[in-house]
Amino acid sequence: MKILGISGSPRKASQSGVYKLVQTVLENTGVDYELVSLRKKSISGCIACLGCVKDNVCKVEDDLTPLREKIVAADAYVFGAPNYYATLNATTHALMERWFQFRHQTGDILWGKLAVAVGVGGTSGRFPADELEKFFLYNFIETVAKVTGQGAASCYSCGYGETCQVGIPSMIHGQGVKITPEMIPDVAKQPKVMVGAVEAGKLLGQRLKEGHDRMVVTRKMQEKMMAMFASSA
Ligand SMILES: Cc1cc2nc3c(=O)[nH]c(=O)nc-3n(C[C@H](O)[C@H](O)[C@H](O)COP(=O)(O)O)c2cc1C
Repeated sequence: MKILGISGSPRKASQSGVYKLVQTVLENTGVDYELVSLRKKSISGCIACLGCVKDNVCKVEDDLTPLREKIVAADAYVFGAPNYYATLNATTHALMERWFQFRHQTGDILWGKLAVAVGVGGTSGRFPADELEKFFLYNFIETVAKVTGQGAASCYSCGYGETCQVGIPSMIHGQGVKITPEMIPDVAKQPKVMVGAVEAGKLLGQRLKEGHDRMVVTRKMQEKMMAMFASSA
């Protein structure tokens, strides 16, 4: 049994709230895992060439290519992404688009698997976590838990954070803010968030160890998706 973790943040592991939370979730599953960071990876979005329709293999060659087998082999996913402009960042979205390669013919390569969605933002991580949950739903993968936290916006360290009119420090703390190390958000210092990550990992591990009927999960996700379409029509 194996879980694939993806941290969609371009930041170094030590500076990334997404990486920390994804890692915490994975560590608490009690299941083998691999954590891949998208930092410095070059992944293009889907180019709609339809090269994958016959064999479910994307023909675009880039840093997603070696990840394909890991995605197929994994029993579950822990994906995290940063909040960029109230959605998830482009690199994570590019990876998501390329999952089009799994949606053809029988389409059953990934369906019925389980996942945890992680989001981190300078204000809130809810938007990227919700997007990831929707993405998993589209692939008939059940999101068993979502974890969201507040990370350190670059504005705290860019050098202009105390005077910048549009930066997060002044938006949160007001104009003329004096930046101190204690005020810089860090998910590791947010007890509720860290407990949420631990609990999410335990739940995912428990669900995997109990075993689940992938077809039952698939049907549940299909129904949920159709209900979502119906309510948004
Ligand atoms: C291009 C860009 C856009 C961002 N937009 C938002 C935003 O709309 N809302 C927000 O809360 N944070 C925003 N942020 C801040 C990041 O979400 C924040 O730094 C978070 O900690 C990133 O996660 P990471 O530490 O794992 O990289 C933005 C950051 C960048 C670089």
